[in-house]
Amino acid sequence: MRVVLIGYMGSGKTTIGRIVANYLKSHFYDLDELITIQEKQSVRKIFLEHGEDNFRSIEKNLLALFLKYKKEYVLSAGGGTPCYENNISIMKQFAKTIYLRLTPDIIFKRLFTQKDQRPIISHLSEEKLFEFISHHLRHRVAFYEKAHYTIDVYDKSIAEIALDIHDFLLSL
Ligand code: S3P
Repeated sequence: MRVVLIGYMGSGKTTIGRIVANYLKSHFYDLDELITIQEKQSVRKIFLEHGEDNFRSIEKNLLALFLKYKKEYVLSAGGGTPCYENNISIMKQFAKTIYLRLTPDIIFKRLFTQKDQRPIISHLSEEKLFEFISHHLRHRVAFYEKAHYTIDVYDKSIAEIALDIHDFLLSL
């Protein structure tokens, strides 16, 4: 089975992706991690030294190659991946896409303590961060909601979310 998890930063794509992959006895991949390995540089450094446009181009090319050649996987995309180029269409062409949906206030609470590791938000103050997330999410939702399946993750445990995704995939 080919599965791609999408959603905003902090929505749990990597944690949940690992568990779903385990259920499916499939390989788990994290797109940011693949980019880091290929570029021999962290995502943060790529943003700082080469800019976001450059990152988006690396992300698009690596995603296209991955989808073309990998057969069985659970892939955790970056928070922005489905929202650039035609990435969401190509993901949907090759894999089942699942959107992990969270509200802006919960995303804010989760990201506030770890914002320094995230180049898109690391410079923002507490008040600006909430404003940024609300605005950014409104724009991104249009892409996220194209997923084959959406799951609200704010009121569920990690095990419940993974099981829900597993059940959805087996119902196909
Ligand atoms: C980004 C999310 C990050 C990473 C990069 C840009 C975004 O991935 O790809 O920092 O634009 O939302 P995570 O969602 O895994 O943190």
